[in-house]
Amino acid sequence: MTQLQNGSGGSRRAFLRNVGLSGGAGAMFATMGALGLAPTAQAAQRERSFQALRPGDFALTGRAAAKVVIVGGGIAGLAAAYELGKAGYDCTVLEARDRTGGRNFTVRGGDSTTDLYGHRQTARFADGHYMNAGPARLPQWMVTLDYCRELGVPVEVFTNVNADAYLYNESAGMTAPVRYRTAKADVYGYVSELLAKATDKGALDEELTAADRERLVEFLKDYGELGDTLKYEGGERRGYTTVPGAAGTPGVLLGDVPTASEVFASGVGRYFSFEFGFDQAMLMFQPVGGMDQIPKALTRAIGAHRVRTGAVVSDITDTGSGVSVTYTQGSRRRVVNADYCIGALPPNILAKIPHNLGSGVQSALEAITPSSAAKIGLEYRSRWWELDHRIYGGITETDQDVAHIWHPSYGFHGERGIVIGYYNYSANADSYARLTPKEREKRAVAVGVKIYGDKYRTELASSFSHHWRQTPHLEAAWHSTPGGPDDARYKPLNEPTGRVYFAGDWLSYTDAWQHGAFTSARRAVTALHARVLSS
Ligand code: PHE
Repeated sequence: MTQLQNGSGGSRRAFLRNVGLSGGAGAMFATMGALGLAPTAQAAQRERSFQALRPGDFALTGRAAAKVVIVGGGIAGLAAAYELGKAGYDCTVLEARDRTGGRNFTVRGGDSTTDLYGHRQTARFADGHYMNAGPARLPQWMVTLDYCRELGVPVEVFTNVNADAYLYNESAGMTAPVRYRTAKADVYGYVSELLAKATDKGALDEELTAADRERLVEFLKDYGELGDTLKYEGGERRGYTTVPGAAGTPGVLLGDVPTASEVFASGVGRYFSFEFGFDQAMLMFQPVGGMDQIPKALTRAIGAHRVRTGAVVSDITDTGSGVSVTYTQGSRRRVVNADYCIGALPPNILAKIPHNLGSGVQSALEAITPSSAAKIGLEYRSRWWELDHRIYGGITETDQDVAHIWHPSYGFHGERGIVIGYYNYSANADSYARLTPKEREKRAVAVGVKIYGDKYRTELASSFSHHWRQTPHLEAAWHSTPGGPDDARYKPLNEPTGRVYFAGDWLSYTDAWQHGAFTSARRAVTALHARVLSS
């Protein structure tokens, strides 16, 4: 907490993310207020001020474009190659996996993985269906959307919040889920009633003038749907058991309204402010056809001949006049010599690669620690959540080990669909990782049945689970950068003394977002280019 108070942005963000992830979004909102966190419009402005490189940059100075070897073909590495390519740099990207994108990974039928425990899976999803195992939602302010526009990757709305999705807190005694709209009506209703009452009783007389109090009560009546007696007694916001229709069918309101005490005890309110977060507010977007349309488009734009997949880097040496990177591809050992290098692997992987970049670099890399997150895609033969539950996209929040259950934001009214049966983190993700894929499915399905009923099991066609901490060559979902990326200990990563630059979401204020990878790559490219032009 002391870190929070000393104003380091990175740890504040990480802290907020962790509160958001653990479901304490109410806590997150309160915390943001307490920290005075708001000023992100300026940040977005700053990102837009990035000056893309141009071919003319070299023509004008009479200098030749340098050769750059980029270690890592995730978003940061690809973005660096793409941006450098605009000025004619000769880039080579080395990627250990058999595809580019890094943690931007879309799973389709036929895709296979083997995790570090040796669990091998092949996805059996039907044609046209996919799961985004990594990034899956894009806020409007992030530069990721600018790259989608520039690269011609079409986007569609990703439903991050849905009034008809469920909340389920078993530990609070719930035996059936409650819809967001119902929970919101009840929580906002009672909070409004209590605040109106307190105002009426004079509890706020010192804080507010008589006119303020009147306006506050007017607001609360509307916000909480209070009657003239200033009491919350439920209403149509909660929902219906029979919806209104033709004459003769006025609709039947949902059962009994719980008491204020019951509502607060259910803990449902803790999820509401998730959507107030700067990162998570609707509207959000996704690329049509899968998140990996982004790395695919970047790879095409860079030129596939510049990207070597299956290339596992084993040494990075700064020779003083250049950089020499050794890698193995299959059984062959190869070396790329270049003028500069950009290290765009996760820090936990970079830290394992022998180099001569100094102990400052090594201890900085080691200070940044990897985190776990996982998803399971459950493919169903029917879209029972749309048919039976009237849920079209959005997220069901639970206090179970599956944490978040995502309904697909594409393929509405189609025949099949893929539900994300868990998107969980930390210990929950790691405990599922230790199971076999079949056991993971069984455990996740058992939780889902409690919330949605038997079809969660009986309609299941296939599943595929992905655990980032156990994924070879990545071994992390995201990272914690203590003190934030501008902490003095990361200076050797942010301002290289030699010829190696670093880039990745883990060196940004938006770790766990592609935006962080893009902006970090832009920063490295800008610095490298300025140096090349002035050297
Ligand atoms: N970007 C990831 C997501 O949206 C991880 C994350 C979650 C980051 C919440 C910040 C806040 O799920």
